[in-house]
Amino acid sequence: MTERHPDLPGPLDLPSLPDLRMNDGHTIPAIGFGTWKMPRGDVAHSIRAALGAGYRLVDGAALYGNEVEVGHAITQDPEVPREDIVLTTKIWNDRQGREESRIAFEESASRLNAGVIDLLLIHWPVPSLDLFVDTWRTFIELREEGRVRSIGVSNFGVAHLERLIGETGVVPAVNQVELHPFLPQRELQQYHAEHGIVTEAWSPLHQGTRLLLDSRIRQIAERNSMTPAQAVLVWHLAQGIVALPKSVTPARVRENYEAIGLSLPGEDLAAIDAMADGLRRGQNPDEM
Ligand SMILES: NC(=O)c1ccc[n+]([C@@H]2O[C@H](COP(=O)([O-])OP(=O)(O)OC[C@H]3O[C@@H](n4cnc5c(N)ncnc54)[C@H](OP(=O)(O)O)[C@@H]3O)[C@@H](O)[C@H]2O)c1
Repeated sequence: MTERHPDLPGPLDLPSLPDLRMNDGHTIPAIGFGTWKMPRGDVAHSIRAALGAGYRLVDGAALYGNEVEVGHAITQDPEVPREDIVLTTKIWNDRQGREESRIAFEESASRLNAGVIDLLLIHWPVPSLDLFVDTWRTFIELREEGRVRSIGVSNFGVAHLERLIGETGVVPAVNQVELHPFLPQRELQQYHAEHGIVTEAWSPLHQGTRLLLDSRIRQIAERNSMTPAQAVLVWHLAQGIVALPKSVTPARVRENYEAIGLSLPGEDLAAIDAMADGLRRGQNPDEM
């Protein structure tokens, strides 16, 4: 049973968090809390709602411009020790490279007021820069120095992963990519499974747009007494993917987390699988 924050109505009768094991031996929760486009003024109350609901994975990035507020918010809940939270940040594209990524890391760690970052990601491969292998070598050093617990990547395709692993011999713990029913990333997921890489889904709710209004999702949600967002998140969880929904609305923050205690029958999961159309919300990693 998950303890609920005293400010929130409870109790939450959810199973304990089904953490996934990463290839470096550390674990990562199955649902994380996204912070992109979260205005600085919304960070404190949103993270308080998230920690109260049970989230223990917080996804941030230098790009999001709210690391100071995120770093502060995760230390403010007396019920949740900092060491229980997996804090993620990402190195932005213009800070890649052997030396520059180390400087960027130090800046993020300082803004987050964190001696150790739990999960550090390369935000995009940016193949045109041709610096991601150099950046990765710095990440490996930071892990060896104990400044970072786990290292991974974001928006990497199979070819980028092959090169990274081929040239350094170090397999990322996670690859965080756009992933929702319209873009299930099956080829990439297969590669991840073969190499022990945890898949993290960004924009799992398709940024709250046409996916949640789609009649197929709405009917499945209604039939199974859950919300459209929960139906989508159950679909992620059923595949062993870490989903990172973002919301500044406390009721939605809880609603999304509560997907962890729900399930869908196989035919409904298959119906959601059939929605794939390959259309991205974000940019193609080869062109970014
Ligand atoms: N690595 C990358 O390149 C990358 C790129 C994009 C995102 N990300 C990460 O992934 C996280 C999630 O992606 P995202 O923020 O793009 O999109 P998302 O989580 O798919 O959708 C967020 C939007 O959906 C709304 N929403 C949330 N829960 C809802 C619910 N239960 N019912 C209806 N609407 C709901 C939110 O509104 P309110 O907030 O107004 O409630 C917000 O507008 C980001 O915050 C970030 O941490 C990473």
